[in-house]
Amino acid sequence: MRILGLDTSCDETAAGVVEDGVRLISNVVASQAQLHASFGGVVPELASREHEVNLVPVVRSALEAAGGLAGVNAVAVTVGPGLQGSLLVGMTFARALAHAAALPVYGVNHLEGHLAALRLMAAPPGAPFVALLATGGHTALYDVAGWGDYGLLGDTRDDAAGEAFDKVARLLGMPYPGGPAIERAAAEGAPAFGFPRPMSGRGFSFSFAGLKTAVALKVKELGEEEAARRRADLAASFQEAAVGVLADKALRACENLGRGRLAVVGGVAANERLREMVGRGAVEVFCPPAELCGDNGAMIAAAGFLAAARGELLDAEADAAPSARLG
Ligand code: KG4
Ligand code: ZN
Repeated sequence: MRILGLDTSCDETAAGVVEDGVRLISNVVASQAQLHASFGGVVPELASREHEVNLVPVVRSALEAAGGLAGVNAVAVTVGPGLQGSLLVGMTFARALAHAAALPVYGVNHLEGHLAALRLMAAPPGAPFVALLATGGHTALYDVAGWGDYGLLGDTRDDAAGEAFDKVARLLGMPYPGGPAIERAAAEGAPAFGFPRPMSGRGFSFSFAGLKTAVALKVKELGEEEAARRRADLAASFQEAAVGVLADKALRACENLGRGRLAVVGGVAANERLREMVGRGAVEVFCPPAELCGDNGAMIAAAGFLAAARGELLDAEADAAPSARLG
């Protein structure tokens, strides 16, 4: 069964084709990062309009790489969480395409999509396992008892981990998206500043707002010139604290639940320092390749396979679900 997966939940217009939920055939992503860079974050109205412009060429090239629409059996599309206008652009497109081609269309939870990216790996984790999901909008730990069975262990009380990277990057005068920019700068510096590790040791909930404020206060204390001179050290210190909390809690969840496998997914999972830290634990770590960590269509197609098995056809009247949850 071949599924075309579409994602327009945030600032990537993405389409991918996956066979039987596990074999990646094509994966095409048009990033809007440059469009939003000067604003320091995603501007929802601009994102929706850009999806309108990018969807046709992105879907066309994902289908071309898969030998055309003829071999596709179903369409899967993200219904949430995400930006309402952006989600609706993708859902409307998916419905129209599916209607014209007489294909079923399945609604996918974007967070299950990030988890399903694991199924596209050559050797995915077998359940049960603990999953750390860290993106620009979400940060959560799940106990995955099986595909479709996600027990939420804890999530963030305020900012998401990726959001913290984006906000701190902006503070340090770096472009959006902040994750890759901070990681690059951090490689040139040392974690010389001891920033707080909020909520460390306290359950499986996260909090990143205080860490961002601590960086802002340090920048103020140093003054503009000195902060600019110490930019790499500030980036490295923030990264150390942020991914330190993620790794500690994820490894502790494995220990408490007696799980021997840990999966790390979502945009922030591309971070090498995070991968290194979780790699030091006593568990087997599973992390999709970087191109499957950030938003993409293949992960939605992979999750679409699970949604299809559960019979989750997208209702003709179904609205977008901007704050959909998982687990
Ligand atoms: O999963 P994703 O592509 O989109 C959402 O669902 O939000 O995640 C995007 C987030 C952004 O906040 C970005 O700054 C962060 O992932 N990110 C990173 C890295 N690459 C992307 N954070 C830390 N280190 C990275 N290398
Ligand atoms: Zn995402």
